Amino acid sequence: MPPVPPILAPDLDPKDWPALRAQAHRMLDDMLDHIQSAGEGPVWRPAPPSVREGFAAPLPRAPQALEAVHEDFLRTVLPYGVGNTHPRFFGWVHGGGNVVGALAEMLAAGLNANLGGRDHMPVEVERQVARWMAELFDFPAGAGGLFVTGASMANLIAVLIARARALGPDSRRLGVGPAGARLRAYASCLAHGCIAKAMDMAGLGSDALRGVAVDAEGRMDIAALKAAVAQDRAAGLEPFLVVGTAGGVDTGAVDDLAALAQVARDERLWLHVDGAFGALARLSPELAPLLDGIEQADSIAFDFHKTGQAPYDAGFFLARDGARHQAAFASTAAYLRREARGLAAGAPWPCDFGPDLSRGFRALKVWFAFRTYGADAIGACILNTCRLAAYLAACIDAEPELERLAPAPLNVVCFRYRAPTDSDRLNGAIVEQLQISGAAAPSTTVIDGALAIRAAIVNHRTRAPDIDLLVAEVLRLGRSLTQGHAA
Ligand SMILES: Cc1ncc(COP(=O)(O)O)c(C=O)c1O
Repeated sequence: MPPVPPILAPDLDPKDWPALRAQAHRMLDDMLDHIQSAGEGPVWRPAPPSVREGFAAPLPRAPQALEAVHEDFLRTVLPYGVGNTHPRFFGWVHGGGNVVGALAEMLAAGLNANLGGRDHMPVEVERQVARWMAELFDFPAGAGGLFVTGASMANLIAVLIARARALGPDSRRLGVGPAGARLRAYASCLAHGCIAKAMDMAGLGSDALRGVAVDAEGRMDIAALKAAVAQDRAAGLEPFLVVGTAGGVDTGAVDDLAALAQVARDERLWLHVDGAFGALARLSPELAPLLDGIEQADSIAFDFHKTGQAPYDAGFFLARDGARHQAAFASTAAYLRREARGLAAGAPWPCDFGPDLSRGFRALKVWFAFRTYGADAIGACILNTCRLAAYLAACIDAEPELERLAPAPLNVVCFRYRAPTDSDRLNGAIVEQLQISGAAAPSTTVIDGALAIRAAIVNHRTRAPDIDLLVAEVLRLGRSLTQGHAA
């Protein structure tokens, strides 16, 4: 018998379970307090240098009490988050999360499930959410769905499937070659930057994405799309993909998805819809008609962590043809052999549908929330954010000192304080001061060359008085900064 190796370190489970339990309850209570008081205090506060300096400490070799580390978290991390649980966080497109999802995250972490594959019920939870999404978008029974980090990753998956469809299955082995250099994709010139990045990462080059002109509503100009496709074909190039946008990042514009579906059919293009924050509006019967045509897409990307109100991260990719989706990613390896029975059963596995082998249990927080709140309630939250955006747009239109810079078809409003000169600088300063004061946190974008204050209303906690406060603060800052400038 060989010598039994000595135990060099204790396992990582607590030695005093009752003490751990008491501490765990404190941590849970603190976090529930945090969420319960999401609307109190400033939206955001910058971390002071003294707090940042603490993070220069070296790798902690020795143990510390969990209580002490948690105290540190409460002092140095929790107060200095981005602020997106706050009802007056209007920046970028950050979701507000929900408490049921947060609790489910704790359960998922406790389970420590790896959803790359194998035969276990956590994978069935993800498959059920995928079937719910196929049902929502009227996709057929063979649809494929997968949780990913976010819409950026989901859009990359779409480009990779469309690439494999265009170049054939051998391209996965041989690379894109000269045929790949001829592929061309099309999206609105206002499409999110992650589409160009996906083209880059797919080895096709971001220049192979044509930015198609938009109409006055910010929607892709269908005639311009057809012309670009025809021009590229005439030049010997190979159009293969059109990406429609359902909720453009700047203004929330929704492309005419039914018209895009017709072009895609006529031109044999893969139709992918980037619905990062717009697609789930289909949960609301009032909003669903805005997305008509999305049910004809070959694939859709969206984020539960945005308008779906799930805690980060919870992106999702849905493909009409699950077999084609699988064909773009599945691979074999001796150490990942699938069996008919036992733990290695249950093929195809989620790792056959995307780049990740190890995958966390993102599905659980969405499964819990949809079951606990009901899908209709999430749809109603999305409708509420859109109604508040319409209210903000109306407040701006009624206020002579403010100017709206774009239509607001969904939940995003772009506007500015009118200034005789130097409008970009003034509006940039307004946003900066709003953020630093903690009163509200919009972000900025550029609309037709002008810097805009951009308010994306995503959080289920936001109410009309939050919008009123944003408008009042923009006016107050606009007046005082204009006077300061004049003086
Ligand atoms: C329209 C659109 N597409 C894609 C993305 C990227 O999504 P994610 O940040 O989840 O990767 C965003 C982000 O806001 C977006 O607005």
